Amino acid sequence: MSKIGIIGAMELEVETLKAQMTVTGQTTRAGMVFFEGTLGQAQVVVVRCGIGKVNAAMCVQILADRFEVTHVINTGVAGSLNAALDIGDIVISRDVIHHDMDVRVFGYALGQVPQLDTLAFPGDESMIRLALSSCEEANPGLHTAVGRIVSGDQFISGKEIKERLIAEFHADCTEMEGAAIAHASYLNGLPFVVIRAISDKADDSAEMDYPTFEREAAGHCARLVEVLVNKI
Ligand code: ADE
Repeated sequence: MSKIGIIGAMELEVETLKAQMTVTGQTTRAGMVFFEGTLGQAQVVVVRCGIGKVNAAMCVQILADRFEVTHVINTGVAGSLNAALDIGDIVISRDVIHHDMDVRVFGYALGQVPQLDTLAFPGDESMIRLALSSCEEANPGLHTAVGRIVSGDQFISGKEIKERLIAEFHADCTEMEGAAIAHASYLNGLPFVVIRAISDKADDSAEMDYPTFEREAAGHCARLVEVLVNKI
């Protein structure tokens, strides 16, 4: 039987899921509240990890050790790095990279974690396929792409840095937790997928767009995840 850890960085990214689930247990670890229960027929643990990569990695480790989850889903919002991806659209992780890991001075590629055997953490193929079909069911007609997500401890809100991320990584969107969740899942041998809805364009308009669109965008992801967990 699958047990699926669902992580959002912010309350609005998990509040809909928490409202929909039947909660059977609540546990606090490292300041994070883990809600155990069912979402439809699926066994889930839903948690808000807080912002940034350290919180996100810690959260996965707790899900692995304390809750023994079999799969990890990260849901939330992101800034678009692809002109074809507009606010509200969805990106499902083909793979995920740390954009702020930089040990090029010793010959590593930008984003490469030294001594790790991969640059990009690949999303689980079966979860990606199921996420795509779930999105079609949950958000009919919504533009959805399977693509590259890059993460760093940085809110991207400028043309120059945006252009650099596009040039260096050919990424589709950027956020602040996905690579840590992918990395920690990879180390624990857990299949994962990151699902993000676009809340802004990661440029000079991001500061204005993000607060305006984050709720609507997060809602698209939550609807998708609710369908997805019952297919895994
Ligand atoms: N999450 C949503 N938009 C973002 C952005 N522009 N940069 C980093 N994280 C984000």
